[in-house]
Amino acid sequence: MSIAAKKLDSYWMPFTANRDFKNKPRVISGASGHYYTTEDGSKLYDTLSGLWTTGAGHCHPKIVEAVQKQVETLDYCVTFQMTNNKAIELAERVTNLAPEGLNHCFFTNSGSESVDTALKIALGYHRAKGEGNRTRLIGRESGYHGVNFGGMSVGGMVNNRKTFSANLIPGVDHMRHTLNIEKNAFTRGLPHHGIELADDLEQLCSLHGGNNIAAVIVEPVAGSIGVYPPPIGYLKRLREICDQHGILLIFDEVIAAFGRLGAPFAAQRLEVIPDIITTAKGLSNGVIPIGAVLVRDTIYEAFMQGPESMVELFHGYTYSGHPVAAAAGIAALDVYEEEGTFEQALSIEQHFEDLLHSFKDQKNVIDVRNFGLMGAIEIAPRDGAPGARGGEMHKKCFWEANVVVRNVMDVLCFSPFFNSKPDEMEKSFLKIRHVLDSIE
Ligand SMILES: Cc1ncc(COP(=O)(O)O)c(C=O)c1O
Repeated sequence: MSIAAKKLDSYWMPFTANRDFKNKPRVISGASGHYYTTEDGSKLYDTLSGLWTTGAGHCHPKIVEAVQKQVETLDYCVTFQMTNNKAIELAERVTNLAPEGLNHCFFTNSGSESVDTALKIALGYHRAKGEGNRTRLIGRESGYHGVNFGGMSVGGMVNNRKTFSANLIPGVDHMRHTLNIEKNAFTRGLPHHGIELADDLEQLCSLHGGNNIAAVIVEPVAGSIGVYPPPIGYLKRLREICDQHGILLIFDEVIAAFGRLGAPFAAQRLEVIPDIITTAKGLSNGVIPIGAVLVRDTIYEAFMQGPESMVELFHGYTYSGHPVAAAAGIAALDVYEEEGTFEQALSIEQHFEDLLHSFKDQKNVIDVRNFGLMGAIEIAPRDGAPGARGGEMHKKCFWEANVVVRNVMDVLCFSPFFNSKPDEMEKSFLKIRHVLDSIE
């Protein structure tokens, strides 16, 4: 047994069936480009580019170099009442890419922290404007907004919530999710049916009074639940209802920002501009944990009142604007710009879509859906054992086919590298097809 495998017992793995994995561990010890390497030297093709994080490929030399340089120049720096040059530069670079009007950027270390930060900013904004009555938050069923209490409360992933159901934050409602396999199965791109689901927000406004609602948070394309692209017109309708009632619209773009949809932000690709955007993952190409919350000028300005020597928002993390993470972020944005990464992502969309939809007539496949470089193949649950087929797919792909595939119950999720090579994608999907064939 390798040293890493022996030591596994002390390690409580996240979102993992610990005992099952530890019975038969297979440990990653390296990565390069589009592949992971295991301790025993096998190469695994990564169909999820990290965890939707690493679109420009693993161990990108420019990002690696920037991190190495930064860690020996300024390893850490407090960002409360002082700051560092890298955090300032990254904030400017990110806001330059952002939709018009979202010119302010608050740093976090993860998607979960970005979401909780955004919710706090939304509540603080209304209070600063003298509308402290706006306290309700609206999320959506099946939404994923991380695992902290705020994000979990507005989120709608049942398994994540049920253990903590009595302790979720109060004053939260959920709209219905937008997946409708009966009407939209095998849609390429945005589904045609479901715009009316946005009117759930109008109903909640009638129920509570729109003037009591602080914010609505949605993933523009729901990712972690198994890729639910928004129905045509749905996000625009949400925007209209928010405008009518003075509610802030938050797009959780932790997956979708930085190229996943072939644009810096999903808001730009989908042509609906929210008031707040949460990000993480692709901001540093996954190399160092960092997230950012982007807010409209009006929101930032609402906080910038009162005596100038006063802290305006009592919120922040020890590592907000960490110089090494920020250097990784700057280098990632350089790579995206120099290599035309977002254009690369756009240019492989069609091929990715065709590969996914070639599974349409495959045994047990009940839906295929995709938008940008986010895609999913949904397989029918086995009678009495939901999730079993998906779990087997993951394991067999990982162990036998040397392909990393993510399953969420019986949905297989894919987020290819922006610079994927067509033949490598084809080879990996062929392997996945064989594994799927072998599963009863
Ligand atoms: C939309 C969305 N929000 C928040 C998160 C949480 O991010 P993290 O795991 O970095 O806390 C995720 C993670 O996948 C996500 O997809």
